Amino acid sequence: MRLRSTCEEIVPVGSNRLLNGVEGTAKGFIPPGRRFDSGRETGDLEERVRSPYRENIRPKKPWYSVQRIPPSNFHVPIPAIDSSMKEKIVDAVNRQIQAEFQSAYHYLAMSARFEELNLKGAAQWMRTQWQEETVHAMKFFDFLVRRGGSPRLMVLSAPETEFNTAAEAFEETLEHERRVTALIHSLYDLAVEEKDYSLQTLLHWFIDEQVEEEEAAEEIIQSLKLAGESGEGLLLIDRELGQRTTPEEN
Ligand SMILES: [Fe+2]
Ligand SMILES: [Fe+2]
Repeated sequence: MRLRSTCEEIVPVGSNRLLNGVEGTAKGFIPPGRRFDSGRETGDLEERVRSPYRENIRPKKPWYSVQRIPPSNFHVPIPAIDSSMKEKIVDAVNRQIQAEFQSAYHYLAMSARFEELNLKGAAQWMRTQWQEETVHAMKFFDFLVRRGGSPRLMVLSAPETEFNTAAEAFEETLEHERRVTALIHSLYDLAVEEKDYSLQTLLHWFIDEQVEEEEAAEEIIQSLKLAGESGEGLLLIDRELGQRTTPEEN
């Protein structure tokens, strides 16, 4: 028995099992490379079709039926997608890498200033934040590498931190993170405008991260306001800030 075209298949009556022994989930679907109209597959199929007769077990009803599958099932149009990165996107991601490294540099300078003020815990907190910002930069860096875009490292400016109290430092941190949030949001706007779906997915993580960054700075500001700027309260907060030793997980 020969099948006339690839748009036909033989299935046992009342069952969704294909002849090659694979459970058919989508009725009428022949996977690519399993066409039954040529080569060895046809031979196998003929063997299988004949075998009940060879063994003199003639079924009362035919045990197979031929189903005609509408050609539309085989020709689903796939829109052409260009997955290469647009120059505009590569430039914007490179600027964000620079902004993240600039943040890292800024937090390292704040750590140095806290060391001068002898607030070791806050210095540790800032040092951890420095590490976290480099992780952020590397997320964008790796994104470019994986997409075939070229990371281009740009110049960083010397950070300026002149704070005298812990409260001033965390007010500065909050302001800084708000600016970073604005950058992430405008990068997301560009990703939407340019229909760069993978960049949008990456930025979902950063949008959530910025909510956490601002929240963390605000909480510390509130604690410092409650505790005051000197004495036992400040030492307690400083000790608590020092507990932070590793950047947040992904
Ligand atoms: Fe960041
Ligand atoms: Fe964070």
